[in-house]
Amino acid sequence: MKEINPLEITDNFIRLISSDWMLITSGDESKYNMMTASWGGVGELWGKHVATAYVRPERYTDEFVARTHRFTLSFFDANMKKMLGVMGKESGRHFDKMNYEGLTTKVLPSGQIAFEEARLVLDCKVLYVDALKAENFLDKESLAKWYNEGPGGSLHNVYIAEIVGAWINE
Ligand SMILES: Cc1cc2nc3c(=O)[nH]c(=O)nc-3n(C[C@H](O)[C@H](O)[C@H](O)COP(=O)(O)O)c2cc1C
Repeated sequence: MKEINPLEITDNFIRLISSDWMLITSGDESKYNMMTASWGGVGELWGKHVATAYVRPERYTDEFVARTHRFTLSFFDANMKKMLGVMGKESGRHFDKMNYEGLTTKVLPSGQIAFEEARLVLDCKVLYVDALKAENFLDKESLAKWYNEGPGGSLHNVYIAEIVGAWINE
């Protein structure tokens, strides 16, 4: 993997996140966990390049992010979509995600975990944590659809994180 300046990434992050999906990974080589995410953003805040992740507190991955304040975002080619489906259905609490066939752990210089098979990796350090609040929804339809009537579960935790490294597979 080669380190690149985030400003040189030419991908469309709306498509990458919403359609292609990503893995949020947190922990270290001895113990980490990852989950699929299709909600999030990449942009600029406080003079830093940032990525924002939305993680429900029920996710095992959330325990790692809340504790370490670090995570990576890994983006893959289409041939890895089946893996993303599995990582988005199974929980690391009951499923051995660390030894999933076809995913090779890559330890970044920061000690954070990504995957050799990823085509783009963002190494992220959390700057700000919050949880979505029901009373702050101006769009009550989304509140009803995604929380009250929908898949259920708690309001997402919001992690705004500085992108401290970006890596591509050539
Ligand atoms: C396509 C897709 C996108 C998802 N996006 C998110 C997301 O953005 N935030 C979230 O909290 N869960 C999301 N999930 C659900 C988690 O990936 C899923 O609950 C996973 O099993 C959690 O694993 P864990 O318990 O090992 O952390 C998504 C699932 C799929 C299939």
